[in-house]
This record gives sequence, structure tokens and C-alpha cells, in this order.
Amino acid sequence: MTNDKRQILICQNCTCRDRGSQEVLESFQQADLPDDVEVVASDCLGQCNMGPTVRVVPEETWYCRITPDDVSAIVEQHLKGGEMVEAKLHPRIHLRFSF
Ligand code: FES
Repeated sequence: MTNDKRQILICQNCTCRDRGSQEVLESFQQADLPDDVEVVASDCLGQCNMGPTVRVVPEETWYCRITPDDVSAIVEQHLKGGEMVEAKLHPRIHLRFSF
């Protein structure tokens, strides 16, 4: 990885796995991602109760309760379009979007 790459971390620890994070990981791996984005299977991201957890670094965008159906919106709207998918943001981390 070069330093200018973004990474999308998909938690693969037990709680998120129980909620389908392996399928989320596979959906991101199969997606048509921008060249500067790398998909990474991650250890626990510390947000287990809101999993499956997805985190984009270095910008620090946190998504929660992600399913494979959410992946195309994150790829197209956020990773390609530069606009976060507000409905899936972690509400405690992104307080201005809290519901
Ligand atoms: S198990 Fe996924 S955030 Fe902890």
C-alpha cells in the first residue's frame, strides 16, 4: 500500500461475522472500486453492538449495520462521488448526523 491510498476496513471479528460481515467484505472485494481504495479485512473495530462495522481511513468515516445491499451506495456515492452515505453513518461517531 502507498500512503496516498484510502482503505476501507471491514470488521471480520466474531460479532460482525455473526451479522454477515463476510458477505459485506466479499461485496466490497467484487465492487468496481476507485484505484486509490484498498479493501482490508479488519479485526474488531470496537463498535460491535452496531456491526457489521465499516471504517474508511485516513478520513475516519464510520458506517454501521452494513449489509451487502449498502455496498453499492458506499462505493458510488462516497468512494467515487465524495459524499458520505448519511443514513448509514455511525450515529455516535458522526454526531451531527445523529437521528
Ligand atoms: S466485532 Fe466488529 S466492531 Fe467488534
